[in-house]
Amino acid sequence: MNQPGDDPQRAEEAGSGYDRLADVRRAGLDQIAQAATVDELRAVEAELLGRSSSLAELQKGLGSLAPEARREAGRAVNEARVELAAALAEQRARLVEAERATQLRSERLDLTEVPYEPRRGHLHLVTQTRDELEDVFVGMGYTVAEGPEVETDWHNFQALNIPVAHPARSTQDTLFLAYGEPESVLIRTHTSPVQVRVMQTQAPPIYSIMPGRVYRKDTPDARHVPTFHQLEGLVIDRGISFADLAGTIEVFTKAYFGPDVTSRLRPAYFPFTEPSAEYEISCVICGGTGCRTCSGTGWIELGGCGMVHPNVLTMCGIDPEEWSGFAFGFGFDRLAQMRHAISDMRVLYDNDIRFVSQF
Ligand code: DAH
Repeated sequence: MNQPGDDPQRAEEAGSGYDRLADVRRAGLDQIAQAATVDELRAVEAELLGRSSSLAELQKGLGSLAPEARREAGRAVNEARVELAAALAEQRARLVEAERATQLRSERLDLTEVPYEPRRGHLHLVTQTRDELEDVFVGMGYTVAEGPEVETDWHNFQALNIPVAHPARSTQDTLFLAYGEPESVLIRTHTSPVQVRVMQTQAPPIYSIMPGRVYRKDTPDARHVPTFHQLEGLVIDRGISFADLAGTIEVFTKAYFGPDVTSRLRPAYFPFTEPSAEYEISCVICGGTGCRTCSGTGWIELGGCGMVHPNVLTMCGIDPEEWSGFAFGFGFDRLAQMRHAISDMRVLYDNDIRFVSQF
């Protein structure tokens, strides 16, 4: 009957240990509240609830208590454990939340302050010019056609009534490609070969414009760049006359340049039109009185035009007895240069944002 729990002295000793429980709890709750990080809290947890914690010691000592005292002390130890565990869980949730918030704050990208004012891009002046001209012609019922930049000698020259060795070829400063028979493939020198392609694939009546890039073996200067843009026009119908051509040119000149600019046609020669003319506009700089830009003449030459040559119609499969038509072609980089009084054409292709962004 001499059980350890019955020994009043031992119970007394152990009891004094269990009196410390309130202190252990209070100190534990303090430690938990003071843990500033999840890592610190983990260390606190080991200290308060781990194997060598005061609570574990007290738990171990329970066996030496008298049954009555053991039950009570056991409940107290257990309550302390539960309370500390709850406080730990609560503090952990708080710390995890705080650490997450700190991390989010440190990783946040502040997009409200951009180091520069973002600018909107826009179409290049030459593209704007093409779009505007297309609008003018589409408004008159024309369709827009395109052709390849790499062309055959036949489309670029022969079908346009410029046979091999024709002197007109030398005016075109052609860039040939090392492809196929020598000098049979080239990068187009004008947009006129697209006329050929349109006539070969469409039955008249034809009302079409053909804008595009063209290439010449030219040294760049204020009025020439080796890569530039032309707009070709082609009308094939019954009873088309030179007056229709002149009227069309005057209409689009006024639509693009405004009512103060006027056009005129001067006799010229192109192998693919007969009769042929040069298309000029009154000088946009001086208004026609004569200045440096127009070399004192009051007029600026922009392109060529004429009545489509019967040989061209025939080569493209159209009967010249039934159909007639006119064609024209001009560089629209030059048109933009004139409208905006740009003294040097090369700036159009320098890609200098200070220039490009002005339009
Ligand atoms: N293709 C000519 C050139 O590049 C311009 C031209 C002249 C086009 C007369 C035409 C035309 O359609 O009829 O110089």
